[in-house]
Amino acid sequence: MSNLSTELQALTLQLTILPEQINKIADKFRQTMLDGLAGKDSPLKMLPSYLSKPSRNETGTFLALDFGGTNVRVLLTELLGQGIFNVEARIASRLKDADGHYNYISDQSTADQLFDFIAMQIATIVKPDANYPLGHTFSFPIHQTGLNTGTLIHWTKEIETTGMDGNDITEMLIAALARQKLTNVLPQAIINDTVGALLTAAYIDQSTTIGSICGTGHNTAYIEPLSPLTKAPMIINLESGNFDQLPFTNYDSQLDANSERPGAQPLEKMVSGHYIGEIVRIIACNLFDASLLSTSPGRNILTTPYLLNGAHLSLLQEDDTEELVLISNWLEGSLHITNSSIEDRKALKTIAALICARSARLVAATYLGIIKHIDPNLEHSHNIAIDGSLYEKMPGYAQDIQITLDQALDGTAAMATTTLTKDGSGIGAAIATAIAINMKS
Ligand code: BGC
Repeated sequence: MSNLSTELQALTLQLTILPEQINKIADKFRQTMLDGLAGKDSPLKMLPSYLSKPSRNETGTFLALDFGGTNVRVLLTELLGQGIFNVEARIASRLKDADGHYNYISDQSTADQLFDFIAMQIATIVKPDANYPLGHTFSFPIHQTGLNTGTLIHWTKEIETTGMDGNDITEMLIAALARQKLTNVLPQAIINDTVGALLTAAYIDQSTTIGSICGTGHNTAYIEPLSPLTKAPMIINLESGNFDQLPFTNYDSQLDANSERPGAQPLEKMVSGHYIGEIVRIIACNLFDASLLSTSPGRNILTTPYLLNGAHLSLLQEDDTEELVLISNWLEGSLHITNSSIEDRKALKTIAALICARSARLVAATYLGIIKHIDPNLEHSHNIAIDGSLYEKMPGYAQDIQITLDQALDGTAAMATTTLTKDGSGIGAAIATAIAINMKS
């Protein structure tokens, strides 16, 4: 057996999450949820949303502002009740221009500049002669003291915009709207994207109890039957990307050491779209350094941090040609790595598959932890609403989550299904706005 095959076998052992590990991780996750709920030290922030399930009678037309970190989206959404909605207008703009003209997520930008840009996007949709209640999906950990108020705890997903510290996000948005003369846009609610996914799915199907994002970032929210704040059901944002009782490898430590915030978001760094390409790149570099991959001309480009993203891992896994020509064309055409050997390409494909499967299984283990918390006797059906590019587009990802959950719940009366909740983060902001207005009346 070649040295490369031996190394790939070792990697397979290191990176495969076995069924028996799933239950152990789920149990640790459940315990950290309990600690967080009880106010003890916990990697899970268990942030209150001040919302519970929608009644499904929410109606009206609302603006939804969806700020996720890569794009800002604005949707004008009409809610018709009973799970029916209609997106009347939508725009999406990148927060960082590909040609380098602007970048609102770097440390060279201030929060005011960022919010001015966001307000300008809203201006393209609204007309002066109407009022627009707005819901804001802000996909970062925030400390909320009410449905329409919150301060950033810290950035994630490597965002570095300055000037957020301690400032109320809704007030910053209102000030930026005023600078654009948009006093007819009226923020009513601020929510996390996981809460948005959960609200949207529950608006359609009341059996939904968990909402999750598997995209650039990763996180999950669920309906806590007994919120410590209100002693009533409330949607809690777990900020599960910060869960830390996990089987780390040296490659994860390398990624973490060179990240914007070492030590933070350990689960997110193992599973989410922003990072999984980087883990594959780090492993590939290690194989090159050990002379296990052939020294193809141009391979030095692989030393560029964050060269690979989730879409590249999709491409690596989708190539079913015998000689892996799609991978070869991509290596040559996009990365200028010429004369790669078939062994190199097979190795890259194997590593991508291992990292994606590990991601799906770890995520499934956290869902199992939540199910064990809300359904201790494992006797109910649970629908998990998921949005995000990994779940939607990564080959095999959704199936891996489902298979892992099925195996773990086999022999119990409980069942878990997962459903894609496309645009859930944005639509959820409209639903939250309707709920906020109903609460006031
Ligand atoms: C953030 C979460 C968010 C998730 C998905 C994470 O980096 O901390 O608040 O829900 O990304 O967008």
